[in-house]
Amino acid sequence: MPRSPVPVLTIDGPSGSGKGTVCRLLARALGWHLLDSGALYRAIGYAASMAGIDLSDAGAVTRCAEATRIRFRDPGDGGETQVIVNGHDAGDEIRTETCGAAASAIAAIPGVRTALLDLQRGFRRAPGLVADGRDMGTVIFPDAATKVFLTASAAERARRRHKQLKAKGLDVTLAALLHEIEARDARDASRAVAPLRAAPDAVVIDTTGMSAQAAADKVLALVHGR
Ligand code: C5P
Repeated sequence: MPRSPVPVLTIDGPSGSGKGTVCRLLARALGWHLLDSGALYRAIGYAASMAGIDLSDAGAVTRCAEATRIRFRDPGDGGETQVIVNGHDAGDEIRTETCGAAASAIAAIPGVRTALLDLQRGFRRAPGLVADGRDMGTVIFPDAATKVFLTASAAERARRRHKQLKAKGLDVTLAALLHEIEARDARDASRAVAPLRAAPDAVVIDTTGMSAQAAADKVLALVHGR
């Protein structure tokens, strides 16, 4: 008898839609693995910048993506997942807005997306996977049983990012963040490969004014078929 595939729950959406927090809550509630695919693009953006590569040089960035070793490590103390890039814990560096912008630039290069394909699909392990990204439901796991697209107004998303970054001691203004978020969204939605969009079979949830727990509860109800 053919074995049923490992279940995948895809959560796509723009930056600041609450995906990261909601996905962590979901992975914990379901006892499933978690793929933070944005961290992979950030890691490549970081590695390319560290190597002094011109981010608009598609060939050089693709070679860098193919050569970069990325691992996630749970610190085991409830702290943030460490992102080990070529043996160095780059968890803090990759969370900056500069690195987010670098990630968004290199994510438009088809060779980079191809280089990360198998790595991402390899996260699909029993008992299940919560996949956080932009193209999880459209490209990486098109056969996922449950697909969700989280959105929120740009103003609310900028406010959330502002709170997160301030908590980390990073100094950014709300106006600059709103500008950055709008620019990143426009770039992610308009690129030729794997643009940011909801899969036709995704359920769209607007999280404006909604807590992360309330959003996670809505998604859990979908997973459990209620
Ligand atoms: O989700 P996060 O903000 O960490 O993602 C950083 C950037 O990586 C996004 O702006 C997007 O350009 C890119 N990305 C992507 N595909 C994914 C995840 C992230 O293109 N699956």
